[in-house]
Amino acid sequence: MKYLVVFLVIAMGEITIGEAKSCLQCQAEGTNDCTGSPVTCQDNFDSCTTSFTFMSFLNSFKSVVTKGCTSILPLCYNDITLAAHNAKLVHHNQCCYQDNCNVGSIIMPRQNTTKNGYYCPSCFVEGSTVCNRPAKYACYGNNEDCFEYIGAGVFPGGQPNKYYIAGCITKKACTYKYSTILRSLIGYGAIRCSSGQTANN
Ligand SMILES: *[C@@H]1O[C@H](CO)[C@@H](O)[C@H](O)[C@H]1NC(C)=O
Repeated sequence: MKYLVVFLVIAMGEITIGEAKSCLQCQAEGTNDCTGSPVTCQDNFDSCTTSFTFMSFLNSFKSVVTKGCTSILPLCYNDITLAAHNAKLVHHNQCCYQDNCNVGSIIMPRQNTTKNGYYCPSCFVEGSTVCNRPAKYACYGNNEDCFEYIGAGVFPGGQPNKYYIAGCITKKACTYKYSTILRSLIGYGAIRCSSGQTANN
């Protein structure tokens, strides 16, 4: 009887392992599709994703398509954008919930660039992590919070360097581990967020 119990526990353990999601994983630049190979997701990763990120810094830009697993479900329903003087990043995500369902290409939807009444201090500094004279930047779309990116990074068209970049970011983006995504795309800087200011204060 004891052996039977041990056997059942092991069998159930295997069933649990078998339930981990599998998603296609790949990354490519300058295209809107990549051919992924299946990977087993970590236990709390509920969704497969295909994402498209567009970045522009000074006069250089690049786009990256990424497929994989995600545990950040708010990304399935919200695009994330950062906008500042000389810097812009748009991250669009499509999620699906079956094993290896994240096949096919992705199209970036048109962005809402209507000004929303919020303002953030904005700055773009390369080669240093200090901004001496932030300018006032008018936020648009769903960018109602302010961000500061401080530290190392590799931005499109550039070499690894130190940066201080500040501007507007999608409301609440900082609360959903967005820094993890930024690190995979840009580097190892820290990102800090705060509420945007309205013109009246
Ligand atoms: C675009 O953004 C503005 C400002 O946040 C908002 O008032 C408007 O409803 C948005 N339009 C669409 C189509 O989402």
